[in-house]
Amino acid sequence: MSDCIGLITLDHVTKAYEEGGITRTILRDVSIEFGCGEFVVLLGKSGSGKSTLLNLIGGIDAPTSGDVRIDGCSITRMSDKERTLYRRNHIGFIFQAFNLIPTLSVMENVLLPVELSSNERVQRDGKARARDLLEKVGLRTRLDTFPDRLSGGEQQRVAIARALANDPLVVLADEPTGNLDAETGRVVLNLLDTLTRQAGRNLVMVTHSEEVIGIADRVLRLKDGQLV
Ligand SMILES: Nc1ncnc2c1ncn2[C@@H]1O[C@H](COP(=O)(O)OP(=O)(O)OP(=O)(O)O)[C@@H](O)[C@H]1O
Ligand SMILES: [Mg+2]
Repeated sequence: MSDCIGLITLDHVTKAYEEGGITRTILRDVSIEFGCGEFVVLLGKSGSGKSTLLNLIGGIDAPTSGDVRIDGCSITRMSDKERTLYRRNHIGFIFQAFNLIPTLSVMENVLLPVELSSNERVQRDGKARARDLLEKVGLRTRLDTFPDRLSGGEQQRVAIARALANDPLVVLADEPTGNLDAETGRVVLNLLDTLTRQAGRNLVMVTHSEEVIGIADRVLRLKDGQLV
């Protein structure tokens, strides 16, 4: 497995929230490994803990107990600062609501993760890489446009380019096609699949679209706090 990078391990992960003196356990003793260069789809009904699971993998949140590791390195045991660096250097996040920065142009949005990365190669090649990604998502002529001038599908394509700009080990996508019409959703999905496959990166995608299942390597379903 020496050439395998971006291996995600969840080891007896439990996540619970306290609410009004009551403990609600969202994820219950989840153990799983996501392989390298794998496209994993995460299904489950609303409130089943899909976003919670992505946030744990992405180091946005920490488990109540258990361990999350990437390439054997525990995210759980990192300090807040280390976890932030981990996120900036190794994770690409695509949010359901795009989350583009409105005051930055298309190009500047995509360059943001490059500037936050401490990887010298990413910084050196960042501009060329950002251009190349924006070309691939069909936005070469829109580099200086601001997000409010773009359609939903175009904004989502910027978000995809941005998520890949720091050459992450793992791309986490939370319902990336949820706000798009079927046709645009298909285009965005194929793009994401192609770009991560070309780079041999992991893609973990939350979706309600049964259509996506057809092109995924593995489909996991969250039910009663467990993956089935
Ligand atoms: N910070 C928090 N504090 C308390 N409860 C939370 C918190 N974050 C999430 N939850 C609860 O955890 C459960 C799972 O939430 P999560 O967002 O992971 O669901 P989901 O599967 O992504 O749902 P959806 O498909 O609607 O996006 C929900 O019941 C939610 O209320
Ligand atoms: Mg969610």
